[in-house]
Parts: sequence; C-alpha cells; structure tokens
Amino acid sequence: MRTAGPFIGRLCDALAGPGYAVERGFLAQDAARALRAALRVRDAAGTFHGAGIGVGAERVVRPDIRGDRICWLDAPEGAAECDVFAALEALRGALNRDLMLGLTELELHYAIYAPGAGYQRHLDRSPHGVERTVTIVLYLNEGWGAADGGELVIATDSGEQRVVPEEGTLVVFLSEGLEHEVRAAGRERLSLTGWFSRRTVGGIPR
Ligand code: OGA
Ligand code: MN
Repeated sequence: MRTAGPFIGRLCDALAGPGYAVERGFLAQDAARALRAALRVRDAAGTFHGAGIGVGAERVVRPDIRGDRICWLDAPEGAAECDVFAALEALRGALNRDLMLGLTELELHYAIYAPGAGYQRHLDRSPHGVERTVTIVLYLNEGWGAADGGELVIATDSGEQRVVPEEGTLVVFLSEGLEHEVRAAGRERLSLTGWFSRRTVGGIPR
C-alpha cells in the first residue's frame, strides 16, 4: 500500500486544490484479493445490513435512494484488514502533519452494491459526535471495466469527475463540500469506504 512521500504529496496537493484525488493501484492485487476474502467471511457471518440515510432518529433504509449493504469494521480482523487500517492511519497522520486537518477518527465500512443498486447524489453527513472531513473509498472489484458501470460521480467546480471503481483504486475527497453519487452497475460492486473525522462531543453512535 502506498504511504510514501510522492503519493502523500500528490494527495495533499489535490485535497488543497480541487478537493479530490484518485490514486489507481493504491492497493496491490494480492491485498485486494485478501480484503475481498475478508469481506466474504464477514458477509457469510451475517454481519452486513441495509445501509441507511439520515442521522440519528431520522435514519431510514431507503434502497431506492441508497442500495448498498454495509458492515462496519469497528475492529480490524486478520492481516489484510490490519494492513489497510495501518496504511490509512499513516495517511491520517500525514494529512494532519501536512494539511493540519486535526483528524482524530477513522470510521470504515465494507459496502456491497448488488447489480442495479446505486446511491443518489448526496453529501456525506456526519453522525453525532464526529465531523466527517475526508471521505476515502477503496475499490475491491476484480477485472472491472468501464462497461460494468458503477462509477462514482463527483460534482466538482470544474464539472463531473467520474471514477471507475477498479480494483485497488483509492478515491479521497473533502466530505463537506463535494456532492457525489454512485451509479448502478451491471455486476456486484465492492468497496471499503470510510471517513477521517474530527471528534466533537461524545462517541460515534450509528
Ligand atoms: C458513500 C459513497 C462512494 C462509492 O458510501 O457515502 O458515496 O464510490 N460511496 O462507493
Ligand atoms: Mn457518500
């Protein structure tokens, strides 16, 4: 996984500039394969649930708006998850050092979009207790091609940026300012999605 200087430099420049960065090949093939296997183990154990929209008492599951199933990684299990946690924690430290973002939390969940499922245009809302600042999405889709659909579309100042959810690609963007959507795909679409956040008060109830 990439944590070296040039990658960090590119990422910081991109966040400070247009507010988003796309890094292909962040995850090597074997690491992506191991994370897919870990995702399948968790899914087989029944730990995924339909993702909701809204926060707190307003929270509802609306598959017509957001169609993925998610599993929170409250604690990493096994080498693959520990490695990705460590790499993302290193990234959090680098963003704090270079951009002084004061990020204190990392929340992460796996997401599975069945064929045809998407997530309509939205801003990532913060749960009580944290302020989501930087969104990260890491794609785990082996052999994905543009024809499979499922793009992430980010609404930037200079128009729509489309990201093909290829295996190993990392997308990072500012949570507060950039609306985005997930287009439906022709096949199952897998990712590890999360946020670097600042703690406000209390814990992180979901
Ligand atoms: C999200 C989200 C983007 C993606 O989970 O909030 O916008 O490409 N995900 O999966
Ligand atoms: Mn989102």
